[in-house]
Amino acid sequence: MSMNSVSKYSFGKVTWKCPSNIALIKYWGKRGHQLPLNPSLSITLKNAYTVTELAWEKGEGLDFYFDGALNEAFKEKIKKYLDSLPYSFLKEYKFKISSKNTFPHSAGIASSASSMGALGLCLASLIKNEMDEDFYKLASNLARLGSGSACRSVYGNMASWSDEFAIPIKNIHENFKGMKNSILIVDRGVKEVSSRAGHALMENHPYRERRIQRANENYKNLNEAIASGDFETFGAIVEQEALELHALMMTSSPSFILMKPKTLSLIENIKTFRQESGLNLYFTLDAGPNIHLLYPDSQKDKISSFIKEQEVEVLEDEMGCGPELISFEGETYGN
Ligand code: DP6
Repeated sequence: MSMNSVSKYSFGKVTWKCPSNIALIKYWGKRGHQLPLNPSLSITLKNAYTVTELAWEKGEGLDFYFDGALNEAFKEKIKKYLDSLPYSFLKEYKFKISSKNTFPHSAGIASSASSMGALGLCLASLIKNEMDEDFYKLASNLARLGSGSACRSVYGNMASWSDEFAIPIKNIHENFKGMKNSILIVDRGVKEVSSRAGHALMENHPYRERRIQRANENYKNLNEAIASGDFETFGAIVEQEALELHALMMTSSPSFILMKPKTLSLIENIKTFRQESGLNLYFTLDAGPNIHLLYPDSQKDKISSFIKEQEVEVLEDEMGCGPELISFEGETYGN
């Protein structure tokens, strides 16, 4: 990543809206500095997003507001993150960051993806002056350094990630347009295992090498299914990846079982419904018990009655078109 594109803004502020994403091929395990063991691929969501305003002026210090209130815990994390970035000129600025999410902290949606995505975009606006392709690579790289999955959130629709920054999936068949993601909330509790600790479990995992191979195969086959519009192959790979993530967690030491009995009974219901209806209803899971249903927009009416019958809390989402620049004001040096 070029570090020559130093900003000319002495003070200003920028606001970005950045959605969360749900992985279909799972990032699980790290190599080097915040790089993934295997390629991952995700859908960018629409309704679950973070809005972050970054204000800067010459000076030093950081204030971090979450939902309108100063938040010391988040501030410490973000300070460490800012200090770790390879842009030393950032140390000449005093920052005020204000962030809010559209979804509750405990809804089982990864908030690090949208929040670090939004912050990565804000910082990219401060560092680089043009919003070209390289801008998004820079934003994705900055987001990755904060949270791996966040680097995929800076693009709309679908994105994949295997190195310093994520890239958008270009070849998406129209069958996937407007794909729905209904999140069945099984448990609103806080995550039992942090992502950081979870990724570390892959270091000495007995299935580590096989997992890397398998993720690469799944990644290749999923890309093909996405390009050809093959919803059935898409669904088979996505479900297999979700269960493999949980299988890896169950077979690591220490071991984690993050699915709840309700997660399993919902999975059974999904499979039965699919067999009986012939509809393209599939599921994926994050590192938690909640179920992310995936299905074509064209089948949403029939599938919504199935969802209602499950009698669980549901968050409705769908594939979205990516981040949005809400506002930018920058005052240049010497003006
Ligand atoms: C299971 O991106 O939260 O959601 O890089 O340590 O911040 P850090 O981890 P994080 O891990 C996400 C793991 C996952 C799968 C995925 O999103 O690909």
